[in-house]
Amino acid sequence: MDYDTPLFFHIMQYAAAADRDVIDLVSGGPDWEPPTALREGLHDYADGDPAEFQYPPSDGLRDLREEIAARRGVDVDRVVITNGAGEANYLAIAAALERDAGSEIILTDPVYPYYPGKAQMLGADVRLVPVADDGGLDVAAMQDAASEETAAVLVNSPNNPTGAVYDAETMEAMADLAEDHDALLISDEVYDHYDYSGRFESALAFDSPHVVVTNSFSKSMAVTGLRVGYAVFPPHLVDAARTRHMLVNVTGARPSQAAVLRALRETGPDYYEASRDLLRERIDAFTDALDAAGAEYIAPEGAFYVFARFEGFPGTLDNVERLVDEAGVACMPGDTFGTYDEWVRFALVTPRAEEAAHRLADYDF
Ligand SMILES: Cc1ncc(COP(=O)(O)O)c(C=O)c1O
Repeated sequence: MDYDTPLFFHIMQYAAAADRDVIDLVSGGPDWEPPTALREGLHDYADGDPAEFQYPPSDGLRDLREEIAARRGVDVDRVVITNGAGEANYLAIAAALERDAGSEIILTDPVYPYYPGKAQMLGADVRLVPVADDGGLDVAAMQDAASEETAAVLVNSPNNPTGAVYDAETMEAMADLAEDHDALLISDEVYDHYDYSGRFESALAFDSPHVVVTNSFSKSMAVTGLRVGYAVFPPHLVDAARTRHMLVNVTGARPSQAAVLRALRETGPDYYEASRDLLRERIDAFTDALDAAGAEYIAPEGAFYVFARFEGFPGTLDNVERLVDEAGVACMPGDTFGTYDEWVRFALVTPRAEEAAHRLADYDF
């Protein structure tokens, strides 16, 4: 993975420099409002005592950890507050490799690209296992790929980029796979509030010393810039993760954690329901227009991405740039996500998503 020019940045710059109006469906930063209590929490924080501007405990504000632990039904000692799910995934992969029980990380293909990047950075071998045609996990193929070299299997549901949601049976099979191979199941549940299928199951449902769950408030509260996430580790792995977190970061950001805590306490289910309704409508309008464009796509059951392909128009960077110039729509090339170089990914994080879809329907692919 090349840090110098992350591809999403390149495409966003290309789109910004284009000589026409371009609708940006490139990266996954929500465009909708955070909870009201979160804004209020940030405002009030600014008037706080100077002590409130100093280091919080390295593993996070105690009250926030307790709030999360209560909601997730786990002991508070297992919760580490991180700088987003990004850091939580890094800590989880490091924990898997530190166990000295294999050096291979099993991932799906397509895959959220920072997983292989992080795993390789930490010295792991990466094995990509293709998903089923409907985007669902190919459980048998995952089982076939597992061996005594497996340090972890890392899954993401609801999924970026496919929108697939893995049900209880699938998650249980992954937890069993981890136990059978003395590996960890790392379950990234960052889109858990965006399940339209009703089938989402957290890996925490399976009480296992082989399960690590990662999550954040980036997407659920539409605050990717605040950098508040968390990991729930099994008790025997949490100390090493806490130490790594402390040595890398010292700690996290206190105002962000305080605002998220306030939002957790004061935000009712209506907020999340409204975000889901908004996205469901966008997904429906977008996929209707993709149908009109004759595109093939994986029907999203969750999250807010659409992974699609257009006959005779592979999702290369060149073609993505052509779509910017000729259709006024910016998206991500599929090979960013593994071997899916025929595909492109659209992030529906703009009120103009439907307009973008109509532009695609009108485009001569
Ligand atoms: C699957 C997945 N995991 C983790 C992240 C990063 O989340 P955070 O902003 O909490 O670090 C993203 C962001 O797009 C994501 O799609």
